[in-house]
Amino acid sequence: MKVGIDSIAFSTSKYFLKLETLALHRREDYEKYYVGIGQKQMSVFPPNEDIVTIAVDAAQKAVAEIADKNDIDMLIFATESSFDLSKSAGIYVHHFLQLKENCRVFDIKQACYSATAALQLSKSYVMENPSSRVLVVASDIVKYQPNTSGEPTQGGAAVAMIVSKDPRILTLEQYSGIHTTDVMDFWKPVYKNEALFDSKLSVYNYLKSLNIALKRYFDASNSSISDLDCVCYHAPFGKMARKADQQTFRNKFLENSLIYGSLIGNSCSASIYVCLLSLLDNTPEDLDEKRIGFFSYGSGSVAEFFSGIVSRGYRKMLSPERNFQMIENRMEISFEEYERFSSAASMPSLSKYQNIGSVTLAKIENDKRVYAASC
Ligand code: HMG
Repeated sequence: MKVGIDSIAFSTSKYFLKLETLALHRREDYEKYYVGIGQKQMSVFPPNEDIVTIAVDAAQKAVAEIADKNDIDMLIFATESSFDLSKSAGIYVHHFLQLKENCRVFDIKQACYSATAALQLSKSYVMENPSSRVLVVASDIVKYQPNTSGEPTQGGAAVAMIVSKDPRILTLEQYSGIHTTDVMDFWKPVYKNEALFDSKLSVYNYLKSLNIALKRYFDASNSSISDLDCVCYHAPFGKMARKADQQTFRNKFLENSLIYGSLIGNSCSASIYVCLLSLLDNTPEDLDEKRIGFFSYGSGSVAEFFSGIVSRGYRKMLSPERNFQMIENRMEISFEEYERFSSAASMPSLSKYQNIGSVTLAKIENDKRVYAASC
C-alpha cells in the first residue's frame, strides 16, 4: 500500500524584517547575511500570533483539500516552541478545525526533527489503519537573543500535512538512515524565552550526522546517490543546506527548495517541509515519479535520511500563487517595531496587530490563552 503526504500547506507571520535593516542596526555587513548565511528576510511575529494561530491557518488550508475531515482520527503537533508543558497545542487546532472527538491529539518534540518523527509515525499508523487520515502539523517560532550570531536566522512558520493512503503528493518509501547522539549544540531551558546554541558545534554535528545517516540509508536501501533525483534538507539558513549539498549531491534543484526559507527564516520543525513546498512550487520541470531524498536534523541530536516518490499529477494539489501572495503580502516592519514585537511589554495591545489567518490570540487571562476570530 502507498502511504504519504496527500495534502500540504503552510503559513507564516503577516510581518517581516529585512536583513538589510538588521545588519544596519547591528553594524554588520549585509553581505554576511545575504551571501555568508544565505538569508534575505525573516518573518517576525506580533504578540497576537503564536504557534497555534499559524498552525490553524496552515491546517485549515490542508484539510480543505480532503473530502471528509471526519476521516482524521489522529492529529500530531510537532513543535519546540510550545508555551505550555502540559496541555498540547494540538488541542487548540483540533478545536478550531472542529475535528471529531474520536481523534487522538498530542504534541511531539525533538528540536527540528519532530515533524519527521510525526510523519513516520503517521505512515505506520495509516499502514495499520488504511481508512484513517492523520493531520501532522509542524509549527515553530524561532527566537535568539539580540546581538547574537543566531539573530539573523530567526523566523517561523507552520506546515500542515495530511497523511493517508494513495497520497496525491508524495509516497513515503520504506528505508531510513538514522543517527542519534547526545550533543549540546542547541537547547532551550524552560525558563528562557530564547534558544541557546554553540554555532560551530551545531554546524559540525549537522554535517557529520548527514554523512552517517546518509550512509545508513544507502546501506539499508541498497541504493546510491544516482538513485535520488533531488534532496530537501533541514535549512535553518540557506547556507547550511548549501554546505550539506556540496558535501553530498550537488543537486540541481537545491535553490528552488530554499526560496521560501530565505524569506521567512528558520522554522525549525517545519523547515524541511517548507523546503519541500518551495521545491514543488518553484521547479518548472515535471517532478512526477521523481525520488526526493530528505535530510531531517534536530539538534541535541537526531538525524534521519529518508526518501519519497512524487505522485503523478502532484501539481493539482499545489497552490504556488497563494504561497507567493502570502509571503509578498507580509508587511515590512522597522527595527524599532521588531524590538517592540520581541518585548513582553507589547502584550497589552494585542488587538493592534493583524493576523495571517482566521484566529488571533485575544488575551491571556488568569494564565489562560484566549483565542478568538481575527478581524
Ligand atoms: P557566525 O558566527 O556568524 O558565522 O554564525 P561566521 O562568522 O562563520 O560567518 C558565516 C559565514 O558568512 C561564513 O561563511 C563567513 O565566511 C561568511 P562559511 O565559512 O560558512 O562559508 N561571511 C561573509 N560572507 C560575505 N560577506 C561578508 C561575510 N562575513 C562573513 N562580509 C551561524 C553563523 C549561522 C552558524 C549562526 O547564525 C548560528 O549559530 N545560528 C544558530 C545555530 C544554527 O542555526 N546552526 C545550524 C545547524 S543546527 C540546526 O540546524 C538545528 C536548529 O535548526 C535548531 C533545532 O534543531 O531545533 C538550529
